[in-house]
Amino acid sequence: MAYQFDKIIDRQTSHSVKYDMLEEKFGRKDLIPLWVADMDFETPDFIIQGIQKRLEHPVIGYSIKPQEYYQTIQDWLWQKHQWKPAHEAIIGIGGVVPALALAVLAFSEPKDKIIVQPPVYFPFFESILRNDRQLVENPLKLVNGRYEMDFDDLIAKIDEHTKMLMFCSPHNPVGRVWTKAELEKLAQICIENKIIILSDEIHSDLIFKAHKHIPMAAISPQAAAITITTLAPTKTFNVAGMISSMVIAENEQIRHKFLQKQADLHLFVDNVLGTTGLIAAYKNGHQWVTELMDYIECNYKIVESFLEKELPNIKLTKPEGTYLLWLDFNQCGMNDQQLQDFLVNKARLALNPGIWFGEQGSGFARMNIALPAEILKKALVLLKTAFDNKNSD
Ligand SMILES: Cc1ncc(COP(=O)(O)O)c(C=O)c1O
Repeated sequence: MAYQFDKIIDRQTSHSVKYDMLEEKFGRKDLIPLWVADMDFETPDFIIQGIQKRLEHPVIGYSIKPQEYYQTIQDWLWQKHQWKPAHEAIIGIGGVVPALALAVLAFSEPKDKIIVQPPVYFPFFESILRNDRQLVENPLKLVNGRYEMDFDDLIAKIDEHTKMLMFCSPHNPVGRVWTKAELEKLAQICIENKIIILSDEIHSDLIFKAHKHIPMAAISPQAAAITITTLAPTKTFNVAGMISSMVIAENEQIRHKFLQKQADLHLFVDNVLGTTGLIAAYKNGHQWVTELMDYIECNYKIVESFLEKELPNIKLTKPEGTYLLWLDFNQCGMNDQQLQDFLVNKARLALNPGIWFGEQGSGFARMNIALPAEILKKALVLLKTAFDNKNSD
């Protein structure tokens, strides 16, 4: 392994959300942070060096995206996912979450319906509700320990006011990497009902070995024609603070509408260091991602075997991608408030409460396992000790 994922890094002094907001979000600082989706691994050297090289120039003025930006993204998407959207389909944007809100504004009117599939990444809800659209839930269903989409429920909930489906692929927090058959079925329903698919594929490079991510827009030309995809190198390479996301819209009309909204809010100015970092990441990052996912799979196995042996009441949904685990504490005899109090004040761990992801997350918590194995093991022992103490009370 060329990269050092075991290295323990002190992030306390770096104004990190994950560390420096612990007290605000969880009420205390002395917690192992296993929440926000960034990683406790060093940002790869080739990205840091790329940015450092740009800083050798004495001026950081207003910038435009170079041709290399588009070519590098196209090469990455082709090599990783065998998808080659045209250069002009790629739109740079400062964050996927702002892109979700812009898409809501671009493709629907107030009171229109937008569908989400909870439990799901919570900014999906906010981007819809804060813009005065109706949130329609098409919950995932748990079938033999694996989450699936409920297509019958989806069809039943669609009406003439339904304008968009906000789709998470791979799915945060349940870790599903959707199969071709599932994507085809979903696309078919949306095509038939003239519903735009916002396919958030920010986790698409973080795939476990036995699985394969397929971009929704690569399913068929018809699917591409109704899909707007959001992507970023930020999760993949641990550069969330770099703010360098993108939207891909192959349909010219859809793209035009999105660009109009982006222009209304003047949200197209380039972040030169983000663009430089993105190019460095996608040009040099294949080996790094392979090694990263090997490490994440090992971490997953550590959690899986620990829970099986020591804490069998906690049920683990087997992830197919992402570095986020979805843990079911429903057999542990606590309500959501008690569970959160227990994890924070007894185990001293900061996990995202499941209910942040919708009411379907009640009794669950999301655990980020992108951290050195030594700390992960420490966190598991803290969890076990807290349960032992609870049981002996
Ligand atoms: C599904 C999903 N979309 C978007 C984001 C955030 O994207 P950005 O930082 O580009 O706004 C995250 C971060 O956790 C995520 O999990």
